[in-house]
Amino acid sequence: NLDQIFGLLIGYLAGSIPFGLLLAKAGGMGDIRNIGSGNIGATNVLRTGSKKLAAATLLLDLAKGLVPVLVAKALFDQPAGMPDAMFGAAPLAAVGAVLGHCFPIWLGFKGGKGVATNLGVSIGLAWEIGLAYALVWLAVAYFSRISSLAGMCAVVAAAVAAAVLGYVAYVPALGVIAVLVLWLHRANIGRLSRGEEPKIGQGK
Ligand code: G3P
Repeated sequence: NLDQIFGLLIGYLAGSIPFGLLLAKAGGMGDIRNIGSGNIGATNVLRTGSKKLAAATLLLDLAKGLVPVLVAKALFDQPAGMPDAMFGAAPLAAVGAVLGHCFPIWLGFKGGKGVATNLGVSIGLAWEIGLAYALVWLAVAYFSRISSLAGMCAVVAAAVAAAVLGYVAYVPALGVIAVLVLWLHRANIGRLSRGEEPKIGQGK
């Protein structure tokens, strides 16, 4: 119905704004797609050497996941019964935002890997899921110093946390997002298995 289409659409439109690309360009760093891994996310913006631009990318990429989910929750009814609750405007806005970030129409559908946007989405769906996401990211990043590994663990943790914490209606959306985010990290997984993945703030 209309709620669902609108949820998906506001999510996609917000998610498709490539903040990393825009901020790196505005900050005089050129095209971020020619730097490091070529990704448009905060991890790669940090490889320009600018912590400020990277922090701003992280916050704005997070916000573009958080805001559409909160808007969808505020504007539309949240169906109570299953399976309708799984396809409410809020989980659809969540999926839309990550799809927008990963496949932005403005960049020929070549976007980022969804880690920051999925954190925003998780906070918007339920703050406890967002907390689990952030804690797992921070813990893995602290011990490994590898952003991609932390991101992959965090996206899986969000789907598991939703199931464990009783937000069963959000498990399919977060599960689909987790599978997508893992797939988008396939080059990172290759580098990890060869021991070539750079630590946070260095290399490619
Ligand atoms: O959020 C993307 C991150 O997990 C990996 O980025 O640039 O190291 O491929 P990158």
